[in-house]
Amino acid sequence: MNERIRIAVFASHGGSNLQALIDGAEQGTMPADVVLVVSNNRKAHALERAEKHGIRTLVISDKQFPNEDSYANELLSNLREESVNLICLAGYMKKIPKLLLHEYPHRILNIHPALLPKFGGKGMYGRHVHEAVLAAGESETGVTVHLIDEIYDHGRILAQKRLTINVNDDPDTLQKRVLKLEHKLYPEVIAKIAAGEISLE
Ligand code: GRF
Repeated sequence: MNERIRIAVFASHGGSNLQALIDGAEQGTMPADVVLVVSNNRKAHALERAEKHGIRTLVISDKQFPNEDSYANELLSNLREESVNLICLAGYMKKIPKLLLHEYPHRILNIHPALLPKFGGKGMYGRHVHEAVLAAGESETGVTVHLIDEIYDHGRILAQKRLTINVNDDPDTLQKRVLKLEHKLYPEVIAKIAAGEISLE
């Protein structure tokens, strides 16, 4: 990507990864701007974070629309109005409509709090991921940024960061430690995409 990347972040809850991307843009660690924040949850703290930084927000749910395509078209018109060229999912709990995947091929990223392909897929979100990692007796865990496709947590892996599990880790400590790594990795990946060090094709 030659021009400054224009990112839409999709977030359903707290938005700490959104914050990491906003900070990365403002501090110049990545040549990109967050220009739109989309949420299905009007109470998401992510929306407040966006507003604080003057970033446009869109609250939208598939339930407001008669079918998937009309929902996708409304999303698309908002994305196009902001000339978005990269979508970053960050704790987004809804499925991305097929039309969006089609219109943004290899341009939709997700961050997952484990080392995919392990500990991904249905039910693997939030604390559940870290409980499963500990229950499996893993010695390490980490973070994955990947492209999305039609299967949850399945698309091509772009980057990972690893973390050694301590004997006294519980799901909460692990979640906190992994989240810290997420905040480093997401802006790093975008900087590498901009620099041509990570290819999306
Ligand atoms: C993160 O752990 C992310 O990997 C996962 O959902 C969580 C979102 O956290 N997909 P936040 O809303 O960015 O704080």
